Amino acid sequence: MSFGLLPVLLIIIYILYITGAEVRGPVRTQPEQIHLSYGADSTQMMVTWTTFNATNTSTVEFGKNSLDQTLTGLSASFIDGGNESRQIFIHRVMLTQLTPGDQYIYHCGSTDGWSPLFKFNATKNGSDWSPRIAVFGDLGNENSQSIPRLQEDVQRGLYDSIFHIGDFAYDMDSDNARVGDEFMRQIESIAAYVPYQVCPGNHEYKYNFSNYDNRFSMVNSGSGLMNNHYYSFNIGPAHVIAFSTEYYYFLQYGWKQLVRQYYWLINDLQEANKPKNRALRPWIITLGHRPMKGLPIVRTLGLEDVFYEYGVDVELWAHEHVYERMWPLYNRTVYNASLSQPYTNPSAPVHIITGSAGCKERHDPFVPNPPPWSAVRNSDYGYTRLHILNASHLSLEQISDDQNGKIVDKIMLIQESHGKRKPIP
Ligand SMILES: *[C@@H]1O[C@H](CO)[C@@H](O)[C@H](O)[C@H]1NC(C)=O
Ligand SMILES: *[C@@H]1O[C@H](CO)[C@@H](O)[C@H](O)[C@H]1NC(C)=O
Ligand SMILES: *[C@@H]1O[C@H](CO)[C@@H](O)[C@H](O)[C@H]1NC(C)=O
Ligand SMILES: *[C@@H]1O[C@H](CO)[C@@H](O)[C@H](O)[C@H]1NC(C)=O
Ligand SMILES: *[C@@H]1O[C@H](CO)[C@@H](O)[C@H](O)[C@H]1NC(C)=O
Ligand SMILES: *[C@@H]1O[C@H](CO)[C@@H](O)[C@H](O)[C@H]1NC(C)=O
Ligand SMILES: *[C@@H]1O[C@H](CO)[C@@H](O)[C@H](O)[C@H]1NC(C)=O
Ligand SMILES: *[C@@H]1O[C@H](CO)[C@@H](O)[C@H](O)[C@H]1NC(C)=O
Ligand SMILES: *[C@@H]1O[C@H](CO)[C@@H](O)[C@H](O)[C@H]1NC(C)=O
Repeated sequence: MSFGLLPVLLIIIYILYITGAEVRGPVRTQPEQIHLSYGADSTQMMVTWTTFNATNTSTVEFGKNSLDQTLTGLSASFIDGGNESRQIFIHRVMLTQLTPGDQYIYHCGSTDGWSPLFKFNATKNGSDWSPRIAVFGDLGNENSQSIPRLQEDVQRGLYDSIFHIGDFAYDMDSDNARVGDEFMRQIESIAAYVPYQVCPGNHEYKYNFSNYDNRFSMVNSGSGLMNNHYYSFNIGPAHVIAFSTEYYYFLQYGWKQLVRQYYWLINDLQEANKPKNRALRPWIITLGHRPMKGLPIVRTLGLEDVFYEYGVDVELWAHEHVYERMWPLYNRTVYNASLSQPYTNPSAPVHIITGSAGCKERHDPFVPNPPPWSAVRNSDYGYTRLHILNASHLSLEQISDDQNGKIVDKIMLIQESHGKRKPIP
């Protein structure tokens, strides 16, 4: 009897070992959540993707007609802050030595699994071209009204880039970051084809913005360094600055970052205003999640005066789940260029709030009596088309998804003398 027990025990241990291995599940090295973002200049493009197990390499195979070039990058382990401490792997490869404006095909992954084949156009060089961009904020994984239309627009070649001004997925950290994974899969058929440029919103605050930080790869064109919270880049005749309004609200995550960002912004704006630079890229456009009227520390480390004085032309915001266009505005005062042509050579920035791409929080109500600087308000789900035509003309269109893609607002902003403004005495 007792002699028979040992083999039985060994068999039981062996069975437990086998089933234990099965419970651990398959090794998931198939790339997913593929997305692009701008590199340091028009010869670069960043490719970012996710796997759920580690892979031997992080590789992009790409080329103009065939996959004849190979570049490898780095992978980082990201452990979500939720109670499962879920681990995912974020892979990043910077494509370099691209020919500006040329079309490329690519796939990414490793010998443990490859993505489908995607294509993108390298960014055009110089300032003599007219970038077309879809702009919105507050796009979730549930009630994500604008996603199908954006997927269609992008695949028809309507845009050079996307600006998503904060608030993703609702929220990326939800359900132990599975909602973040699902959202990044949903936007793949947009973001794997054109650069998906982002800035942080309040919905990213969990675990010190770690889902936002780990999932995106925003490169500052000046330094070539990655910093997802504040950075700038050039496209055509525009210099675009993305920054965090959230430093002003979540001081517990480090007020030092707020101060650092403030001085970085001033430095970046000074650089952009050097005569040679401003002549080449006359438009200065900012991306920030919460509209100006929400910013608490208005005068001390406030940005309104800074953006005004350094001649920012357009300020794009989100956060409120609506579309609202303002008359040229500074210090709660309307600066119409003239009554008949308020947007022809205005002397103050033009603010647009475009936060109605669609999310599970649905719409926000408007205050009943709009302030004098509110020009147009629209509650349809949708997004904004920004077309930077040339040095003097910039067009903005609001697309209603509720009304089957109808243009519900449209302006042509004309500015023939970009530059710094004198402080108003
Ligand atoms: C793959 O990932 C799962 C989930 O994180 C983990 O349980 C498993 O041990 C990993 N397998 C390998 C071979 O690393
Ligand atoms: C990749 O790594 C796995 C172990 O993680 C190994 O079994 C496999 O041979 C490696 N493949 C290559 C091509 O190196
Ligand atoms: C881009 O344009 C600049 C200025 O005209 C030029 O110096 C640079 O060589 C160009 N780069 C490429 C990759 O064509
Ligand atoms: C990309 O480049 C190709 C070839 O030059 C062109 O036909 C296509 O319209 C471009 N796509 C976009 C989105 O600009
Ligand atoms: C883990 O967090 C989820 C919310 O993401 C919660 O529903 C669940 O009860 C938590 N589980 C434990 C064991 O704390
Ligand atoms: C939050 O993350 C930033 C880096 O992005 C770091 O500098 C800061 O110290 C962190 N704050 C906390 C409270 O962990
Ligand atoms: C802003 O407006 C207020 C009153 O409307 C005025 O007192 C103040 O001087 C203005 N500030 C600037 C910097 O123009
Ligand atoms: C600005 O111009 C618009 C359009 O002409 C007009 O409706 C609005 O009243 C003007 N606001 C001010 C303060 O002049
Ligand atoms: C800029 O674009 C506008 C609108 O298409 C056009 O009327 C204007 O002539 C253009 N300016 C230059 C300098 O090409």
